[in-house]
Amino acid sequence: MAPRHLLTLLDLTPAELDNLLDHAIQLKRELRSGTVRDTLHNRVLAMIFEKSSTRTRVSFEAGMIQLGGSALFLSPRDTQLGRGEPIEDSARVISSMADAVMIRTFEHQKVDTFSHFSKSPVINALTDDYHPCQLLADMQTWREHRGAAKGIRVAWIGDGNNMCNSYINAARQFDFELVVACPEGYEPNADLVSANQDRVSIVNDPKAAAEGAHLIVTDVWASMGQEEEQQARTNDFAGFQVNPDLMKLADKDALFMHCLPAHRGEEVSVDMLDHPASVVWDEAENRLHAQKALLEFLILGF
Ligand code: CP
Ligand code: NVA
Repeated sequence: MAPRHLLTLLDLTPAELDNLLDHAIQLKRELRSGTVRDTLHNRVLAMIFEKSSTRTRVSFEAGMIQLGGSALFLSPRDTQLGRGEPIEDSARVISSMADAVMIRTFEHQKVDTFSHFSKSPVINALTDDYHPCQLLADMQTWREHRGAAKGIRVAWIGDGNNMCNSYINAARQFDFELVVACPEGYEPNADLVSANQDRVSIVNDPKAAAEGAHLIVTDVWASMGQEEEQQARTNDFAGFQVNPDLMKLADKDALFMHCLPAHRGEEVSVDMLDHPASVVWDEAENRLHAQKALLEFLILGF
């Protein structure tokens, strides 16, 4: 049977995503109560990192260990992938030895190609276009704090980047409204926006997006791979900071999320991560629980 993958949130049905989040919450409870779980005993996760990471690496590696398996960290510096061995060949070889493969890279096309030649499930751990694993954690966090996301209004403030594109997919899969506030020229993927115009809108004024929002989310102005644009982006994104004044426009019970790492003083004010509405630390921790649920789903089918 062909393996299932998670390249974008659309690879799982809304019902599967729902079950996965319930399962993640259950795994978190079990871990906290000291229950030992070894469902992935002897299983191996290969982790290919072509970009830096703290949360993604630690959560996948710790998650595999906690489930009785192990994880291999593969960097392009030490593997033949970095010396130009074709993705197709690498996919055949790595997936013949690993039970799942996690990839963080630049072009989304690479994870697509890898998955076509892989015998094992492939997990997108961030590409230039999407970051679905982060959305699993964000949606788990929303569920724990506020319940179902259906019908809420989410405001995305900032760059129309990989996280923003994934929020558009999440709006579809979890049935909420998304208002994106970005400077002109920094809109999310146009095809994705037009395919979801019943629930996604774009404005250029952060205040208009924040008005009445139940959840406010942002991310860095310059993503990995855009370091040389940092100065130009700092100018272009002036006024797109999430801070306590912007939060005042949101619903009184609104939450604030950021996938981290954050640049205090840029996309968030210095005090925003510690604001009463901020759930960023729960959000970061939930990467662990959500991905353990994902690994069990993809490798074991539950
Ligand atoms: N949020 C996130 O993916 O963090 P890392 O880059 O540290 O993995
Ligand atoms: N948009 C950011 C997310 C980091 C987790 C980046 O791609 O660098």
